[in-house]
Amino acid sequence: MIRLLDDQDLARSLRADVRAGLTAAPKKLPPKWFYDSRGSELFEEITRLPEYYPTRTERAILTLRAPEIARITEAKTLVELGSGSSEKTRLLLDAMLGHGTLGSFVPLDVSDAALSAAVAALSDTYPGLSVSGVVGDFVRHLQHLPDGDSRMVAFLGGTIGNLEPVERASFLAGLRAVLHEGEWLLLGADLVKDPAVLVPAYDDAAGVTADFNRNVLRVINRELGADFDPSAFEHVAVWSPGPEWMEMRLRSRRDQFVRINDLDLTVEFADGEDLLTEISAKFRRDSLAGELAEAGFELRHWWTDPRSWFGLALAQVAHR
Ligand code: SAH
Ligand code: AVI
Repeated sequence: MIRLLDDQDLARSLRADVRAGLTAAPKKLPPKWFYDSRGSELFEEITRLPEYYPTRTERAILTLRAPEIARITEAKTLVELGSGSSEKTRLLLDAMLGHGTLGSFVPLDVSDAALSAAVAALSDTYPGLSVSGVVGDFVRHLQHLPDGDSRMVAFLGGTIGNLEPVERASFLAGLRAVLHEGEWLLLGADLVKDPAVLVPAYDDAAGVTADFNRNVLRVINRELGADFDPSAFEHVAVWSPGPEWMEMRLRSRRDQFVRINDLDLTVEFADGEDLLTEISAKFRRDSLAGELAEAGFELRHWWTDPRSWFGLALAQVAHR
């Protein structure tokens, strides 16, 4: 396993993000801090909830299209960003190994716990495949991806939607910059749909997403010596029709002060005040194709499910 992020880097960037986010107005935190080992497990639980359609919908598309993807790309290396458990990725690995081109798999994730478990499980299932995990940040560490001549980068699950628009544009341009002409990006994108479907997907009846959302407070308590009372914050999921994204927020249930010892910081929350913890943008084919083109990718294939709930884009690095 390659570790581009050690405990010290993580601690430093968590401190910077928490200080900046909790002293901003309105208050916000980047979603990558959900994913300690408990957060990664809670995310896996979310993927099995009846209301959370993205994972099973993307899996259905991959089940149908993986052989075609293997044939079209003939990739020798598969890189996966924000790989988590890499469960759905097995469909790609099976198809690409079956096609006879694939030699190595490089999953990259900020969560050491999720990545270590995935690498162990995959090495077990695929003894002939070189599997080398990278603990890193896909916003900061793209230039450290292994070089190659025939790579496909998979970014699945709709995680692209968790980046803010400006961050998304620079992420795509940065990815283009480290790839060679003709290499591939396989991008999973959740699509705009009825809020009556979207809102329950982010506010499930069993309360797993609420627990996932509050997990960021437990991470800050543990890592930065803070005294958040997670039960003093209500989980809120709202559809924002202008930018077409879901927002997860934590809403203070009362006037309260939170002490963050390691930052020597006391933060005041008013009753009803929101802390924005995640955006999850929903996409349309044409605007996504435009964003890809802007970054230097050509959309070659676009697959969706019968209800058009989730899109899988296969894009190729364009000629400059
Ligand atoms: N790709 C999987 C997991 C999605 S959950 C799927 O489709 O089911 C999002 C994953 O991205 C988590 O495993 C989380 O740890 C990781 N992640 C979030 N922000 C990240 C970042 N900035 N850099 C690297 N990984 C990140
Ligand atoms: C990882 N990401 C695509 C998930 C999403 O749907 O935006 C994270 C998540 N947030 C709440 N539920 C799941």
